[in-house]
Amino acid sequence: MSPKSAAPLGIVAAVEEEITELIGELHRGPMKVVSIGQRNYYVGSLWQQPCVVTLARIGKVAAATTATALIHEFGVRAILFTGVAGGLSNNLGIGDIVIAASLMQHDMDASPLFPRHQIPMLDRHSFSPCPLLTETLTQASRNFIENHPALPRLPSGQSPQIHSGLIVSGDQFISDKLTRTALHTAIPNALAVEMEGGAIAQVCYEYSTPFAVMRTISDTADEGAVGAFSDFLKKVASVYSYGVVRHFLQLQQGG
Ligand code: ADE
Repeated sequence: MSPKSAAPLGIVAAVEEEITELIGELHRGPMKVVSIGQRNYYVGSLWQQPCVVTLARIGKVAAATTATALIHEFGVRAILFTGVAGGLSNNLGIGDIVIAASLMQHDMDASPLFPRHQIPMLDRHSFSPCPLLTETLTQASRNFIENHPALPRLPSGQSPQIHSGLIVSGDQFISDKLTRTALHTAIPNALAVEMEGGAIAQVCYEYSTPFAVMRTISDTADEGAVGAFSDFLKKVASVYSYGVVRHFLQLQQGG
């Protein structure tokens, strides 16, 4: 087993658009593609750091499978998840970045055996990412926003804000006000909703693997969500993912 410092960083996104540019960057140096469980794992180096980049696809099972393979098959030192989310807090605008301070699975409900949202047998409702990776990810997001010469125009016309807080995950694309309100009422401190982070968090917790999650708000989880999500993915998501990951790796490299 190689020393932990030489172990690669696992970089995961759910949707192809978000990793295309990173895989292009990997191709600039020596790299290989390993296929396991119908997924391709791109093993190489990004900004002088060993990395394994992969597409988890959508949902908690897909994310958990991918995280487990990264830990077992590639011995990653940590997992970084980047992608988009629906905004639940009214303080969030499309294009804002949310860095997870904690993650929950909003559709976990084994009541009355266990309290709603509690992960059975783990005795907890939420998971916390690695503070150091999270701090670096926050700084990387700031560097990206400040230094990106031409960020795609956001519907608000404002420059993106960075938020830190609770991200909730479930196997459901939230696209109507009624469901959004019910979700926000059940978990009032949730900032954003997506479909993978809480599963990655649980796997990393169980395997003592550090992780961090960054999400860009693509929609506001209401009737306009499908259109806003598709538009954002096509035009903006990859710019954010690539830019923030690049700054993150450069910060980790000491530059
Ligand atoms: N990811 C991006 N937008 C989302 C939404 N509205 N619901 C669930 N996951 C999402």
